[in-house]
Amino acid sequence: MGKRLWHGSPSVGTACLRFLLVPFCLVALVCGGDSVAMAPSVVLGPHERVSSQPQVVPMPPPLSDVLDQPAGVPGGYAMAMTAQVGARHVHASWTYVDGLPALNAQMDSWLLGLLDAAAPAGGRYRPAMALNAGQHQGREMTVSAKPVQAKGAMLVVREQVTDTGPDGTGAIRSATVYVDAASGAVHSGTELLRPEAIPALRARMTGIPADIAAPAPQEAPTDLVLSPAGELTVTAGLPGRPGQQVAMTMDAADTAAALSDYGRQALGQLNAAAAPGPATSPALRHVNCDLVPCAALTYDDGPDARTTPQLLDILREKNAQATFFMTGSNTTANPATARQVAEAGYAIGNHTFSHPYLTKLSPPAVRKEIERTDAAILAATGSTPATMRPPYGAADAAVQAAVGKPLMIWAVDSLDWQSKNPAAFVPKVLKEITPGAMVLMHDVQPTTISGQQELITSLQGQGYKLVSVPQLFEGIPLLPGHVYRSRPARQ
Ligand code: NI
Repeated sequence: MGKRLWHGSPSVGTACLRFLLVPFCLVALVCGGDSVAMAPSVVLGPHERVSSQPQVVPMPPPLSDVLDQPAGVPGGYAMAMTAQVGARHVHASWTYVDGLPALNAQMDSWLLGLLDAAAPAGGRYRPAMALNAGQHQGREMTVSAKPVQAKGAMLVVREQVTDTGPDGTGAIRSATVYVDAASGAVHSGTELLRPEAIPALRARMTGIPADIAAPAPQEAPTDLVLSPAGELTVTAGLPGRPGQQVAMTMDAADTAAALSDYGRQALGQLNAAAAPGPATSPALRHVNCDLVPCAALTYDDGPDARTTPQLLDILREKNAQATFFMTGSNTTANPATARQVAEAGYAIGNHTFSHPYLTKLSPPAVRKEIERTDAAILAATGSTPATMRPPYGAADAAVQAAVGKPLMIWAVDSLDWQSKNPAAFVPKVLKEITPGAMVLMHDVQPTTISGQQELITSLQGQGYKLVSVPQLFEGIPLLPGHVYRSRPARQ
C-alpha cells in the first residue's frame, strides 16, 4: 500500500517493512516496554503498541516522478511550475480536481505558504517569479502535492517538500491530508489517531535501531497514510540525516486500536466506491493566478467561419485557454462557429451587436446592443455571456451604468488589426505582457491567426499559463458596470 502509493518499485525500505512485519511484531513485544519508558505519561493498551520497528529508509523520489498520472482520481488535472523565489529554485507540481474546491484551495494555500516563506525577507511570492525561471540559481527545492486516493467522498493528498543543498543532499518534509469532498473539511493525518495514541506513536518513531545513530524526529508525525486494509504507514524526516526518512507500518489491529472517530470514518470512506466529481468546462477549471503567471488571450469581433476554427485548432494543440468577445451580428451570421467555440469549452463575452462607439449612443440604445447580442449568443450556444467588452474600449459613466455587465477591457493592445503583421504584433505583446493581463487580438484577421503559434509558444516558454477571462479573475467578484483590465496582485 504505502509502496504503491508513493515509494515506487525501487523502494527497498517499504518492501522490507512489509516483508518483515511479522518478525518485527515479535520484536515490538519485547521492546514495548522501552517505548513506555521513553514516554512515561502514556500507558499503552494491549493493542496500542506499534507493531513494527521504525526503519530508516532512503528518501523517496519526488512525488512528481512517481505520480505523473493521478490514477483513480476522476477529474484530476496536473499543474507544474518552475520559479526562482529568493535563493531557491523551486520546482512545483500539483494536481487539482474538478468539482472539489476544498481540495484545490488546500493545494493553493499550502503552495503559497511555502513560496511566501521562501520569498526574500519582508516580501511575498509573486507569479512573476515563475517567469523565465529556467536558469538554476541557489538551492533546489521540489514541492509536490498529489491526491493518492479518491474514495467515497474523500480524497487523500500527500504533500512533499525536498530542499536540496549545494552538495546534492536533501531534507524532506511530508504530510498527508484527508479532504472531505462533501463538506470541504480538511483533516491532517494526525487527526486519524486518538490524541492519546500520538505520544506513543512518536515515542515509537524514536526507537530507531541502535546501529543507526540518527537523531529522532522532533515533531509529531504528520505523514500518515491509511490503507483501505486498515494499515497505517507513518513517515517522518530525520534532522541531520539528509536523504533519509524514518518509516513504520502498523498492522490493521494496532491501527484500529489507535484510530480516532474521524480515523474510523476515513477508513470507511477508503473502502467505499469512488464518487466521480462533477465535470467542469475547461474555461472554468480552477487555476490560481496568484500562484502561476497567467495571461488571458482575448479575440474580438468574431466569430468568423473561416479564421475562428483555424484559431481553435491552434489553441487545442497548444492546450491554451482563451476568450472570444463576439459581436451579435457575426454570431447571427455564423451561429455554427459560435457553437463550435462554446462546445470546445472556451469562454465567450458580449462585444455588442453592431460594434458602435457606445459613448455615442443613448442608454436605451446601449442596452439594446447588449440585449440583442445576448440573445444571438444564447440562441447559438445555449448560454448568455456574463461579461462584455465595449468596442474600441470606449466607455464612460453612462455606458458603464447601461451595459449591466462587467466591462472587460484589455491591459495589452496587440494592434494586430493595424499592423496586420505578426512580426510587429507578436514582439509588441511579448514586450508589454505582465502576469494577470488581458491581451486584445482579433480572430477575424487572417494575419492574427498566422501569428498565434509563435505568440503562444513564446508565452508558454516564458512560463505563462494561458487562461480564460473567468479563470483569470477567479475569486475576484466581477461587478456590473465596473471596468477590469488585469487581475489585481494578491494583497
Ligand atoms: Ni472590436
